[in-house]
Amino acid sequence: MANVHVLDHPLIQHKLAILRNKNTSVKEFRELVGEIAGLMCYEATRNLPTKEVEVQTPIATAKCRMLSGKKLAIVPVLRAGLGMVDNMVALIPSAKIGHIGLYRDPETHKPVEYYCKLPEDIANRMVYVVDPMLATGGSAVAAIGFLKQHGCKNIIMMNIIGCPEGIKAVQEAHPDVEIFLAAVDEKLNENAYIVPGLGDAGDRIFGTK
Ligand code: PRP
Ligand code: URA
Repeated sequence: MANVHVLDHPLIQHKLAILRNKNTSVKEFRELVGEIAGLMCYEATRNLPTKEVEVQTPIATAKCRMLSGKKLAIVPVLRAGLGMVDNMVALIPSAKIGHIGLYRDPETHKPVEYYCKLPEDIANRMVYVVDPMLATGGSAVAAIGFLKQHGCKNIIMMNIIGCPEGIKAVQEAHPDVEIFLAAVDEKLNENAYIVPGLGDAGDRIFGTK
């Protein structure tokens, strides 16, 4: 699939197996979402441009490489995307953070916007949109659409679990966006939940059910 990267690193897959387990506690679930996001971030930033710099060590001059190119932003889709932010910021401390609040209408499964606050210079940044679940794709398509309305041109989507329906929706609406996932599951059920998935990511992160 063009623009789709499934990260099959053993550490990611091991943590994902625990994350899916219905007996995993809220505390452990929250920690695992963060850890997986950190590992995924490591892979999803692999192609960022770097430039050569000279650094004076206590011994001599070393030719090193540092990030160049666009600055980064991380945009979690509320609520569940929040669980992915801290471990990413730990790796990219200069990243700015925007928030897009969406929830799925329980009847229509369509995304409803309730919050949007983005860094002023978001249009000039490379943006990582993060959300654990890519189900119908409605939330991802809407979130990426808001960012494009704000002038963003370089957008990467990071989801822990996706499914063919969600991937197709994003690819059709936003063919320029690369998608990084830890797993692509089989399908959606009649309530638009991913099968086998992990249940409701927001509820499991925040302990609301
Ligand atoms: C979940 C999830 C995604 C969305 C995915 O959020 O975190 O944002 O559903 O579904 P979709 O691909 O069909 O749009 P939810 O709407 O449950 O809100 P929450 O994070 O506040 O619980
Ligand atoms: N949102 C979730 O949290 N889980 C799903 O399986 C689908 C949407």
